[in-house]
Amino acid sequence: MATSSAHITSEFSNPNLEILISEQQIRDRIKELGAQITTDYAGRNPLFIGVLKGACFFLSDLMRAVDTRVSVEFMAISSYGSSTRTSGEVRIMKDLDVPIEGRDILVVEDIVDTGLTLSYLLANLQSRGAASVKLAALLDKYERREREVKIDYLGFQIPDEFVVGYGLDFAERYRNLPFIAVLKNPNS
Ligand code: IMP
Ligand code: MG
Repeated sequence: MATSSAHITSEFSNPNLEILISEQQIRDRIKELGAQITTDYAGRNPLFIGVLKGACFFLSDLMRAVDTRVSVEFMAISSYGSSTRTSGEVRIMKDLDVPIEGRDILVVEDIVDTGLTLSYLLANLQSRGAASVKLAALLDKYERREREVKIDYLGFQIPDEFVVGYGLDFAERYRNLPFIAVLKNPNS
């Protein structure tokens, strides 16, 4: 009984999911990005800023692929209601605990979609006097871009589909998938 119910509730083999990027592909790509970041930031002490909650998985794997001295902080951000969404205004729900003046910042995000969130955040961090502000994003849904955002370290470009897993959620579900999948029917 216990075995069959465990099978029925399997999240990883949910038929509503279609794997887009496998666990191995994610691992291989992060290794490459880590090597590139290691070279680019050699001899410096970049501050990685993870955007909660989606970026945590990418951030923790990426940091362990970077072989230079790094620090880490977190921010939480939420978009205003749909009416003000197009203005690109976002609300900072959890701000940094440290000043970033003169620091080399690497923002780590799960996905760039319209780009509204990131264009606001990057400008905000730059205005605090950071020495440099760069962006690492695991996914780029480029077809939906409304604001130009320069992604310095990109994992994968993806088509205009709603994806979940490896930190990305649908109503707080599916963040724990070890791969990235297209959610075929969000409301089933
Ligand atoms: P943007 O401001 O439109 O670029 O929004 C980016 C945010 O929307 C991301 O940080 C995600 O939280 C969310 N998002 C965008 N596309 C997806 C998706 O396909 N799956 C899950 N979350 C997404
Ligand atoms: Mg996010």
